[in-house]
Formats: sequence, C-alpha cells, structure tokens
Amino acid sequence: MRGAARAARGRAGQLWPRPPVPGPGPPPPLLLLLLLLAVLLGGVGAQYSSDLCSWKGSGLTHEAHSKDVEQVYLRCSAGSVEWMYPMGALIINLRTNTFSPTRHLTVCIKPFRDSSGANIYLEKTGELRLLVRDGGSELGQVQCFGLEQGGLFVEATPQQDISRRTTGFQYELMNGHRGLDLRALSAPCRPCSDTEVLLAVCTSDFVVRGSIQNITHVPEQQESVIHLRVSRLHRQKTKVFQPAPEGDSHWQGHVTTLLECGVRPGPGDFLFTGHVHFGEAQLGCAPRFSDFQRMYRDAEERGLNPCEIGME
Ligand SMILES: *[C@@H]1O[C@H](CO)[C@@H](O)[C@H](O)[C@H]1NC(C)=O
Repeated sequence: MRGAARAARGRAGQLWPRPPVPGPGPPPPLLLLLLLLAVLLGGVGAQYSSDLCSWKGSGLTHEAHSKDVEQVYLRCSAGSVEWMYPMGALIINLRTNTFSPTRHLTVCIKPFRDSSGANIYLEKTGELRLLVRDGGSELGQVQCFGLEQGGLFVEATPQQDISRRTTGFQYELMNGHRGLDLRALSAPCRPCSDTEVLLAVCTSDFVVRGSIQNITHVPEQQESVIHLRVSRLHRQKTKVFQPAPEGDSHWQGHVTTLLECGVRPGPGDFLFTGHVHFGEAQLGCAPRFSDFQRMYRDAEERGLNPCEIGME
C-alpha cells in the first residue's frame, strides 16, 4: 500500500495543472496492479455515472483527472452516493430541485450497512465533525443535520490492502428543523390531536385501516416493527402493503416506530398513517378507527376536513 499512499500524497500537492513532461515515467508497480485489477474486475475503471439524484464513482478514475478532492453536485430530494475504491475525498453539494433557498432544510443520510473505505464528516468552513466512522457502529443508522450546519465531506481512509471497498449512503432532504437521528423521520411518541390526524390523512405517504398482528422490538436499531393486517388501503405511494398470500382480500405489511415510544399490541381497528423514508414506512398518527370516524364526521359536518377520504 506504501506506493499507492505515496502516489496519493504526491497528487495531493497537485492542485495546479501538471507541467508538460516529456513522457510519463514508469508508474509505481502497485498502482499498475491496482489499475490492472480494476480492469479485471470490470467496469471499475469506467467513467462514473451521475444524475441529479445519485452519484456513482470510483477512486481509481481519479488518476485520469489527478484531482484529489472531487466535487459532487446533486439536486434532488432523495438519492444515493456510491464510491468504489475510495481515494482522496469527495465534497457532496446537496440542493433541492426547487427554488426556495431561504427555507430551512434537514439532510438525513443512511450509510450502507457494508459501507467501508472512508469516513463521512459534516464540514463547515474547514471544521470537521465525524458523522460515520469507517467500519463504525453507525453503519445502517440514520443521521441528520441542518443544511446550514455544513456539507458532507467524505474522506478515504488509508488501507492496508487493495480489496474491493465501497463507501456509500442514501440521503433525503426534508423541510424544516428536525432531530439529528431517526427521530427526524418519526412522529413524536404522543397521540395526535384531531387536527393533526385530519391533516395526516391528506399528507401521508400511506393511509390504511387495519389491526396490529404483532410487534417486534429491535433495540439495536432503536426501532419497533409493527406488522399490520390491513382491511382497507386508502393510499400508499410505495408498495408498503402487499396483498396477503392467502388471498382473502386483505393486505399486509409492516411499519416502524421509535423503540422509545414503547408501542404495545392492542385489539381492534386503527387508522395507520405515516411516511416512507429510506424505503421504510414510519408510523405517524394512528388513532383508533372509531375515534377517527368521529373526528372526520365532525369536521365534514362543519366543512373543516382538509381533504376527502372514502369512509363507507
Ligand atoms: C408477525 O407477523 C408477520 C406477518 O404476519 C409474520 O410474518 C411474522 O412471522 C410475525 N412475527 C412474530 C414474531 O410472530
């Protein structure tokens, strides 16, 4: 690894264009080996791919640009970054695809469980705060920060060998001030007010009527997983709920909530609402169905229901 590390350091000083040289000297043997390996593994030496939402790149292609810090620009509310053979560093510039610069934005990232090869920092004016340590226990866990707190700086860690490594994470941008972890994506642990429920019915990613099948607590992820038996699907944006295999016209799926909410199974029908983050359905307001019926009818009579939902 010595040779490659030296080569990396060599490039570090090279922010200016290379002076013209008569011809490339013999490359360090290990670097040659790395490049050969890249070719053998296939596709690694290819150009990176990028769209407005996601970026995929390889540290090995750096050789061609002789750049050590690469700027990545993403303009999307959700996507991913995947960096193979991390070398040098990435600065990730996240913006939304809408034009409202003054609005406060929260960024949440969820590192891939098998992410390795780099540390992920929050960077502001040269100051670094470690968010995800290479190989650390934060892998797979959601971390959030306000966009005004800084940007993402991903720095490759020195490696002892040349095995294949990929650093990667998913990200989501959200409106408003939120928490710094999973709480940013979850509803607070308290019953919703009538107004909150009626609004949740209009704005949630999923709205279903159903009952609790079972609840599993997962302390390692600070989550409780609630399996639902759904009798009426009012809305779902993604396929959180699938038809039950028995084919008796109900649906099933699971939603998650914070472990600290201490949810317990209860009998009867509820109206479950919530949002999907990082592919997981997060429980929002979940009133008893009879309570929801009462508050919906009240609002409807007074013309105050913010949106329509079929109740029959
Ligand atoms: C909970 O319910 C789901 C869905 O029916 C099932 O797949 C799972 O095995 C159940 N888990 C436990 C612990 O009973």
